[in-house]
Amino acid sequence: MSVRSYILGTGSYLPEKVLTNNELAKRVDTSDEWIFSRTGISQRHIADDKQSTTDLAEQAALAAITDAAIGAGEIDLIIVATTTPAHVFPSVASELQARLGTSICPAFDVQAVCSGFIYALDIADKYIRTGQAQKALVIGADCMSKITNWEDRNTCVLFGDGAGAVILSATDSQDNEGIIASKLYSDGKYKELLWVPNGASSKKSDERIDNYIQMAGSEVFKGAVAQLRNLVSNVLENTNYQPHDIDKLVPHQANIRIIKSVAEKLKLPMDKVITTVDKHANTSAASIPLALDYAVKNGQIQRDELIFMEAFGGGFTWGGVLARF
Ligand code: ACO
Repeated sequence: MSVRSYILGTGSYLPEKVLTNNELAKRVDTSDEWIFSRTGISQRHIADDKQSTTDLAEQAALAAITDAAIGAGEIDLIIVATTTPAHVFPSVASELQARLGTSICPAFDVQAVCSGFIYALDIADKYIRTGQAQKALVIGADCMSKITNWEDRNTCVLFGDGAGAVILSATDSQDNEGIIASKLYSDGKYKELLWVPNGASSKKSDERIDNYIQMAGSEVFKGAVAQLRNLVSNVLENTNYQPHDIDKLVPHQANIRIIKSVAEKLKLPMDKVITTVDKHANTSAASIPLALDYAVKNGQIQRDELIFMEAFGGGFTWGGVLARF
């Protein structure tokens, strides 16, 4: 027996406003057919002017706390994965700590773009395994709409807003329970293939578009497919599991063609793959916990199933987590 991180509860939140492909086609030169056939996306949720990433994260956190049947006071670690914090500082995690009324504990944000939730889970798992936390609130939350150039059809059709959360709990268990294995990667030389050029400390250009996401779509697509198809064998290395043991794949929801390529490599039929990209689009760090909560609440993922979560994003960054749910 040893200390393992067990997913005690899940929660998520999507802003009310839904923006369909057909509505987008009235703003930029695109079509529902183009977007759906290239990406699998039909619609996305968009935060309103007054909603920040902290607001979305708060709702997801409250839902996960309720689902886990714990009190906010039991939480002793808060990690929020986000690229779109409400403020340069303080962090979303610190803001949330006050809103949720948790006790004083470590609270910080993690920035790994679309891979952020995988990074946050990996870090929280290490706090728990080393006895430094008992109940961790781990969130992926993003308002990608706020850094989207709504005049750029190459990017504005791809993203959406949302938040997802899990409560990780320390449990004395066998090696094959809770989070079993995880791996994180980054290769920073691809920075300019997917980025927002202007930042808090960069020399700012006066070009308005430099405040927004810029992406070389097909290069990012090829990078994602190449890395994600190899990722599972790296994460499963040194475990007792093979790809065919995976009950459910919970992938980052960027593009259905990337998701299908990974499923094909794993020889997993699509009914074992959780897909929300049609409804949520790419919500960056929120996409995996949103998909996880969606699948748990509608019975697609059951307790004791072996799940594999994987993501790829700006940096490039990528990573995966194998867990017994
Ligand atoms: N509507 C119509 N035409 C469009 C649109 C649009 N919305 N967007 C681009 N086009 C045009 C382009 O101008 C280009 O035209 P051209 O050939 O005349 O120059 C053409 O369509 C490109 O078409 P395809 O080559 O068929 O596009 P592709 O199959 O590469 O699909 C897409 C594009 C969907 C962006 C894809 O490359 C992709 O999903 N990339 C990966 C995105 C991703 O995974 N991001 C992950 C991480 S995100 C993060 O970390 C923040």
